Amino acid sequence: MMKKITLFLLLTLGLQQIMTAQTAILIPVETKRTILLYSVGKDQKLYQSYLGTKLQQATEYSDMGTKNFESYLSAGTSNLFEPAIRVRHADNNPSLELQYVSYQQKKINDSITLTTIKLKDPQYPFEVVLNFKASFNEDVIEQWTEIRHTEKKAVTLYNFASSMLHFDASAYWLTQFHGNWAEEMRMQESKLTSGIKIIDSKLGTRADMYQTPVFFLSLNKPSDETSGELIAGTLAWSGNFQLAFELDELNSLRVITGMNPYASEYTLQPDKVFTTPSFIFTYSNKGKGEASRNLHSWARKNGLIDGDKPRLTLLNNWETTFFNFDETKLNGLFDDAVKLGVDLFLLDDGWFGNKYPRANDNAGLGDWQETKTKLPNGIEALIKSAEQKGVKFGIWIEPEMVNPKSELYEKHPEWVLRFPNRSEKYFRNQLVLDLTNPQVQDFVYGIIDNLMTAHPSLAYFKWDCNSMIGNAYSPYLKDNQSQLYIDYDLGLYKVMARVREKYPHLPMMLCSGGGGRVDYGAMKYFTEFWPSDNTDALERVYIQWGYSYFYPSEAICCHITSWGSQSLKFRTDVAMSGKMGYDIQVNKMTPEELKFSQDAIENYKRLNTVIWQGDLFRLISPYDENRSVLMYVNKEKSKAVLFSYTLNLRYGDTFKNVLLQGLDPLKHYRVREINIATKPAFKETDKDYSGDYLMKIGLSISSTQSLSSVVLEITEKLEQDTW
Ligand code: DGJ
Repeated sequence: MMKKITLFLLLTLGLQQIMTAQTAILIPVETKRTILLYSVGKDQKLYQSYLGTKLQQATEYSDMGTKNFESYLSAGTSNLFEPAIRVRHADNNPSLELQYVSYQQKKINDSITLTTIKLKDPQYPFEVVLNFKASFNEDVIEQWTEIRHTEKKAVTLYNFASSMLHFDASAYWLTQFHGNWAEEMRMQESKLTSGIKIIDSKLGTRADMYQTPVFFLSLNKPSDETSGELIAGTLAWSGNFQLAFELDELNSLRVITGMNPYASEYTLQPDKVFTTPSFIFTYSNKGKGEASRNLHSWARKNGLIDGDKPRLTLLNNWETTFFNFDETKLNGLFDDAVKLGVDLFLLDDGWFGNKYPRANDNAGLGDWQETKTKLPNGIEALIKSAEQKGVKFGIWIEPEMVNPKSELYEKHPEWVLRFPNRSEKYFRNQLVLDLTNPQVQDFVYGIIDNLMTAHPSLAYFKWDCNSMIGNAYSPYLKDNQSQLYIDYDLGLYKVMARVREKYPHLPMMLCSGGGGRVDYGAMKYFTEFWPSDNTDALERVYIQWGYSYFYPSEAICCHITSWGSQSLKFRTDVAMSGKMGYDIQVNKMTPEELKFSQDAIENYKRLNTVIWQGDLFRLISPYDENRSVLMYVNKEKSKAVLFSYTLNLRYGDTFKNVLLQGLDPLKHYRVREINIATKPAFKETDKDYSGDYLMKIGLSISSTQSLSSVVLEITEKLEQDTW
């Protein structure tokens, strides 16, 4: 009987050991408040001993006496759960064991420490290196894995997680974000039940759209904005991803993140390194608000191009003209951009193609020369004219794609992803170029490089991507088709990295028919992203709210358009809480609307550092009430901007005071309503309060009129101020 129990325990607890079996080696991955602690067992395996708030006495880590979980579970021997890694060795042996070899820690800069832990199979020259980049001040850990071997022939990789994290709480709540075109980032929360919950994408060119690679995992009980223990995590990968949450029979949870193993067996040659994307996460015991602020601070430093620098306000022509424009019309729009007071005019889709002009989305993609009939004097004349009038000029491209009706397709059918023996499947009448092919990579890089070489003062790019991989066959990869999904993305990153090497500070928006592509794998090459084609301001309240959990506002492009029936004020106030821009017919504005917009841009320019670089506090969620309130506070707590949106009210809806957050209780502040359209909506404007009062008693801010909004500028009042 005893033997039976031991055998049972060995099988089911193969991944879980009791502390007594540990050696003295402890490997801490530390940030300001968090520690992820590994230890080495007497069996030479690596265990995750702890993930959570740091202990005050570091000496107590060695005798914690808690459960230990095998860090990066492999498949084929005693682990009978979902593995982090599964391989078939050169001799066809399908098992892997990983033992601890060594670890190293080095400081990369004042804030970042890199920890690497080397593991090895005792029977094979097969090695796994776990990497952890800990951003101390931001409380964020990036984790990724490198796999290499020196076996006699290639090894096949079937599972290759970026990270495996273990949790041992009483219950787990998963907050996930799903959507579709024009309904991005819808939030859902559910309690995890036993078994595996998988969130993934198989779309090829984009991580999100139906599901997104971001989540909150709350431990023990659901967390809210200011309380609760949780991690906020996201995978930095723009292709197929998988987040797996496996709750076992002992109520322990393993979170396995990485590239989706779906249809992706990878052949790893001897001496080559297979590097997974990073899983980026932060731990907080103070709720989702702190977790978001940690990720935002991290992103401004490490996750975006020029995250600490200003962005350009712009007027885009997509919703005004679609494909229907010419030089004269564009010149009129430059005048509108100047009238509004924005920094840049962004020319969207429809400027290229000659044999097959891009008059609609049927033709021209791939032929990146100006359409002569439409723009007889070319891009350069447009840039010069815009500059003379006083705005910069930016341009739209969709470099990874091709229309079958294009010269590119005629010339290079072998550059296109498609089956040799099946009819082509189209998404928006287009096909995806084979970015696994270095020649195609050169071509795609050349689109930007040629444009920049010919027109050095191009000041902005919008990089679109409107198709998934629906014809999953690469002419270039030949017998290695199962590497397509991974190699496509690696090819894409090679191109983006080359662009950034030559043009390190060029502002670029990542766009994908809406928010289908935002992730920190691509965002490290971009300054901002297009969150959704849906610019109806009511929808945007929810969409932007969802993105704000993981991305800082400076990266979230929010354009004021004619989509939706709300007032211009409401649309402006919603866009102003992110990276504001316009895509609207300025010549259809009344003089009052134009004046309102000009003033709003002035306000935005005065306050954008607080909005872009300040700490975000989400005060009232649109998921909880028929209103939404959020505010940004600068680091010195001397300036804040608050946005309050009343949504579609229902009979009997009443609103309590809004308690502000993030201010200094000892400071005094002047509260002033801005962006006033006709008359003030906030009765208490131009009054002074202590930070203490604003945070404990709060203000009655929200108006009780559906689809109305209030923006407050909150400024520290110094003794000498007489206003
Ligand atoms: C999809 C984008 O989301 C839009 O903003 C616009 O650029 C179109 N593509 C152009 O085809």
